[in-house]
Amino acid sequence: MTAPRTPEPGTKLPAVGTTIFTVMSALATEHGAVNLGQGFPDFGCDPKLLDAVTAAMAAGHNQYPPMTGVPLLRERIAAKIEALYGRHYDAGSEITVTAGATQAIITAILALVRPGDEVIVLEPCYDSYVPNIELAGGVVVRVPLVPGSFRPDFGRIAAALSPRTRAVLINTPHNPSGTVWTAEEMRQLEELLAPTDVFVISDEVYEHMVYDGALHQSVARFPGLAARSLIVSSFGKTYHVTGWKVGYVAAPAVLTAEFRKVHQFNVFTVNTPMQHALAHYMADAAPYVDLPAFYQRKRDLFAEGLARTRLRLLPSEGSYFQCVDISAVSDLSEADFCQWLTREIGVAAIPLSAFYGDGFDQRVVRFCYAKRDETLRDALTRLAKL
Ligand SMILES: Cc1ncc(COP(=O)(O)O)c(C=O)c1O
Repeated sequence: MTAPRTPEPGTKLPAVGTTIFTVMSALATEHGAVNLGQGFPDFGCDPKLLDAVTAAMAAGHNQYPPMTGVPLLRERIAAKIEALYGRHYDAGSEITVTAGATQAIITAILALVRPGDEVIVLEPCYDSYVPNIELAGGVVVRVPLVPGSFRPDFGRIAAALSPRTRAVLINTPHNPSGTVWTAEEMRQLEELLAPTDVFVISDEVYEHMVYDGALHQSVARFPGLAARSLIVSSFGKTYHVTGWKVGYVAAPAVLTAEFRKVHQFNVFTVNTPMQHALAHYMADAAPYVDLPAFYQRKRDLFAEGLARTRLRLLPSEGSYFQCVDISAVSDLSEADFCQWLTREIGVAAIPLSAFYGDGFDQRVVRFCYAKRDETLRDALTRLAKL
């Protein structure tokens, strides 16, 4: 008998290795650095939300919920979208609860993208988009946002459209840059896609983090976009519970039907007590209505401190990310600068090059300010040397 042997699996994702978030978080721990790298809050959620989970479990909500999500939660999501963005989605046929935005995005891509279909991503972009498209057998078409301003360049998006384009992935408020698309930009996208059969996957996980009185421009506000879009959002970002991994997709019934065909076989159902708790908690709009003020104060606290350094601040119009230009401080590449900053200054950040397929380096790094004021002050004391 020959010795047991694990067959060589090859790889479906040759370009994928350990993510920069894991690398930087490990380095931050090793050097006792303040971790402003990975995007998650270091503070707790509202205790009422925790009580609602306990109550849901005690009430016996511990078995599989409906495949599409707990009905009351879908109704509350639909009511919220209608109240905020003026579009009615049917809770029965147009809203699906997902295991976070990550599962929502890969499910949307697997449902829509066929082998050889082109999908446009606007770089820099969230790291799951490209591998998701590749797993579906799609062809990734990378279009850069304008370097420096990170605004969409509609000339370049138009040039990237082809008869094989199946979908465009957009993300506003934007990770990593913190830009927020304007109504005019959304209208430009609407106009550009009007003569096409291209779908939009709209990643709106930071929808409740838009500052300085601006409004989130959901695709739901634009009829021509809403008709061709799957909207992705996440309770993790809105309610400070990124570890819960509960989100949702809102899309016209025909798109939702295709989405659910994949959803029922890649996750089937999503955590029952959390869904009941979120449904209960959503009855009060205050937590998401008050969120911009909550984060804008943190953004300003952090920005005021950074303004005393030679780091040049880029606008953080939304999300919980602050980008800075490092060129007055260092000649290092973004990635080397982040390593140096973690080791020598004691603050972890993420290089923007990590969000580009070709590692484009524009001397900009990203900090996350979803942190307690003490954490931000500690980081600022360390960064004051720059
Ligand atoms: C732009 C963007 N999309 C999606 C996600 C994933 O969200 P979730 O944790 O709900 O899967 C994140 C999380 O960081 C994100 O920044």
